[in-house]
Amino acid sequence: MIQIAPSLLAADILHMADEVRKVETAGSDLLHVDIMDGHFVPNLSFGPHLVAALKKITTLPLDVHLMLTNPLQYIDSFAQSGADIITVHAECQDDVETCFDKIRAHGLRCGIVLSPDTQPEAYFPLIDKADMTLVMSVYPGFGGQSFIPESLEKIKTIRSHTGADYQIEIDGGVSTQNIERIIAAGANVIVAGSGIFQSVDPRKTIEQMKQGRTG
Ligand code: DX5
Ligand code: ZN
Repeated sequence: MIQIAPSLLAADILHMADEVRKVETAGSDLLHVDIMDGHFVPNLSFGPHLVAALKKITTLPLDVHLMLTNPLQYIDSFAQSGADIITVHAECQDDVETCFDKIRAHGLRCGIVLSPDTQPEAYFPLIDKADMTLVMSVYPGFGGQSFIPESLEKIKTIRSHTGADYQIEIDGGVSTQNIERIIAAGANVIVAGSGIFQSVDPRKTIEQMKQGRTG
């Protein structure tokens, strides 16, 4: 079962409610919300305020990707705002397992994120503890970048370690042009920003992505 998570970083922020409705009715399974601190990544984006506002207008689970040097101190705030899944980077400066404990204490699901230069093997114990592993297929910080092909091997490595049911999410540069290879490698949660929001037919794009069909 392939799940599609449009990244709101690519949405028209002045029409956020309409954008959410658009991808909701087009068949999305989750909403991916990118949080940047201007330190872990050279960009700023959204905060708990947006998550709380989204929670009022959608029933889709909110997948909150924390690109923060110190995510631990913000977990309570995102949990209280309505996050359903919170992911933290392997490269952050807090203890990832302590972050997981805090996320789980709110009854939420937790994930570990691997940036492009981070290899999965050293993180197998944390990958095993997480509900999901997010493989970054671009350097975090900006939408609209090109997919890094080496990410496919990383997905395969994680998939053979975890088995079939585990959730492996891919994020960055995903489109109907490369979806077939991504799904064949073993990803089952697909984040796409520009690939969905810039599509002239988001419903068709989401359908193709779920089927792993190159468009
Ligand atoms: C990048 C973010 C991604 C980004 C993906 O730091 O984590 O979620 O929005 O955008 P696209 O799909 O346009 O590469
Ligand atoms: Zn993301």
